[in-house]
Amino acid sequence: FLQPEIPEGLCRLPGPKPLPLIGNVLELRHKPYQSLTAMSKRYGHVFQIHIGTRPVVVLSGSETVRQALIKQGEEFAGRPDLYSFQFINDGKSLAFSTDQSGVWRARRKLAYSALRSFSNLESKNSEYSCVLEEHVSKEAEYLIKRLCTVMKADGSFDPVRHIVVSVANVICGICFGRRYSHDDQELLSLVTLADDFNQVAGSGNPADFIPILQYLPSRNMKNFMDLNARFNSFVQKIVREHYATYDKDNIRDITDSLIDHCEDRKLDENFNVQVSDEKIVGIVNDLFGAGFDTVTTALSWSVMYMVAYPEIQERLYDELKVNVGLERSPRLSDKPNLPFLEAFILEMLRHSSFLPFTIPHCTTKDTSLNGYFIPKDTCVFINQWQINHDPELWKDPFSFNPDRFLSADSTEVNKVEGEKVVAFGLGKRRCIGEVIARNEVYLFLAILIQKLEFHQMPGVPLDMTPQYGLTMKHKPCHLRATMRAINEQ
Ligand code: HEM
Repeated sequence: FLQPEIPEGLCRLPGPKPLPLIGNVLELRHKPYQSLTAMSKRYGHVFQIHIGTRPVVVLSGSETVRQALIKQGEEFAGRPDLYSFQFINDGKSLAFSTDQSGVWRARRKLAYSALRSFSNLESKNSEYSCVLEEHVSKEAEYLIKRLCTVMKADGSFDPVRHIVVSVANVICGICFGRRYSHDDQELLSLVTLADDFNQVAGSGNPADFIPILQYLPSRNMKNFMDLNARFNSFVQKIVREHYATYDKDNIRDITDSLIDHCEDRKLDENFNVQVSDEKIVGIVNDLFGAGFDTVTTALSWSVMYMVAYPEIQERLYDELKVNVGLERSPRLSDKPNLPFLEAFILEMLRHSSFLPFTIPHCTTKDTSLNGYFIPKDTCVFINQWQINHDPELWKDPFSFNPDRFLSADSTEVNKVEGEKVVAFGLGKRRCIGEVIARNEVYLFLAILIQKLEFHQMPGVPLDMTPQYGLTMKHKPCHLRATMRAINEQ
C-alpha cells in the first residue's frame, strides 16, 4: 500500500488497517452500507478503506457530503475506472463511464433537455396536461386490470413482475415512442434480470478492485456481461429502426431528437466539443436503463410498506377520497392536495434508502476535505443510507413514520425536512431523472391507491430485508390486491 505524500497543513486519511492483498474487503460483508456506517462512527465522516490494494474514500454525514458534492463539486464529479463499468452501454455510458469532463457535460446537458422536453411535451389528448401524465395514467390503468386478472387466475401476484413492465413502458414511450404487452418475452427477459445488474454494479464489488478476481469464473459476472450485451442489442435495434424512418419534420421521441441533434451538429462548424454520434444516440440506452429499474424499485417498496402498515394505507386512501374524490382519476396537479402521499414517498425513500450509495465518484484533482488530503483519481463512495439513518438528523431513524415530514397541522409537507433525504445524489452528478421519477412514483401510487387495496398473504410473514446492490430490492414475494368496494365509489 503506497502512501501518498501529504501536503503541509493537511492530515492523512484515517481508516481501518488493511490486510495484505485483500484490504478491508472482509469488513464490508453483505451489507457494506451498514459496516461503512459503523466505521464512520469510529473514524469520522471522511475516512479511507482499501478494497484489494485500491484506496477508497468513504463520505458520510449530510454536511460533509454537501461540502464535497456541492461546494467542491468539480473536484468530486469524476467516475472511477472500474472493471464492471466497461460492460455497461459498451463502455460509453453517460452515468458510468470515465468520459472527460467536457464530453460528459455536453452529453448530460443533452440528456437532461431531451428528457425534460419529451416528458413535459403537450399531450395530443387534451385530457392530459403532458405526455408523462398520459403515459403514467394509461400504464397505471393497464396495471390495475392486469393485477385483477392475475388475482382472479392465481389468487396472488408478484408485485415486481407486473410493475416493472408498466414502468418500462413509460420510459419506452418517451425514449422510443412504443409500449410492450405485459407478456412480451423480449422485454420481460431484459427487465426482470435487473437483479444481476444491480449485484455487480453495487459499490464495493470485489472484482472491480481485485484484478485476479476478473479471471476467475463467476456466474454473477457472466450474467452481468450477457445482460448488458442483450440490453445494448435491444436498444441498438430500436435505434436502427429510428434511423431508417427518421423524418426531420416529425420528431417522435427522444431517440429521434438525439438523431436530429447529430444531423444539426454536422451543419454547425462551430460546435466545439467532439462527441461521436454513437455517444449521442447511446444516451437513450442510459435513460432507458436508469429509468425503469429505479422507479420500479421505488414502487415495489411503496407497495410493501403499505402492506406492512395497513393503517397508513387507509390514511392514504382516505386522503385521496377527500381531496380528489373517487369519480375521476388523480392527476399531477393534485399533488399539492395530497401531502400525506408526498410524506409517505419521502419516508419510503428515506427508510428503504434503496440506493444506499450513489454511483461511485472519483476525484478529478488533488483535493482536501475536512482537513484530510485526497489525491486525484481516488474512488469515492457516498453513503446515502448513513445520512438517511443518522440519529443526529432524524428522530427514531429506524421507525417508518411519514408524519415526520408533515407540518404540525398535517396540511402540508415540511420542505426543509424533505430536503434532508438524500436519494438522488447531490451536486454535479445529481440524478437527471429526479423530477420525472418523483412525478411518476406519485402518480402511479395515487392511481393504484384509489382503486386497489393491497394485503399480505395470510400466514406468510412479510420479509422486508433488503438485498444489497446498486438498487436494493426486497426478496421476491407474493401479495394480494382487492378492488376498493364499488359502493365506496
Ligand atoms: C444518476 C437515483 C430515476 C437517470 C442517479 C444517481 C442516483 C439516482 C443516486 C447517482 C448520483 C451520483 O452518482 O451522485 C435515482 C432514483 C430514481 C432515479 C432514486 C427513482 C426513484 C431516474 C430516472 C432517470 C434517471 C427516471 C431517467 C429517465 C439518471 C442518470 C444518471 C442518474 C442518466 C447519471 C447522471 C450522471 O452520471 O451525470 N440517479 N434515479 N434516474 N440517474 Fe437517476
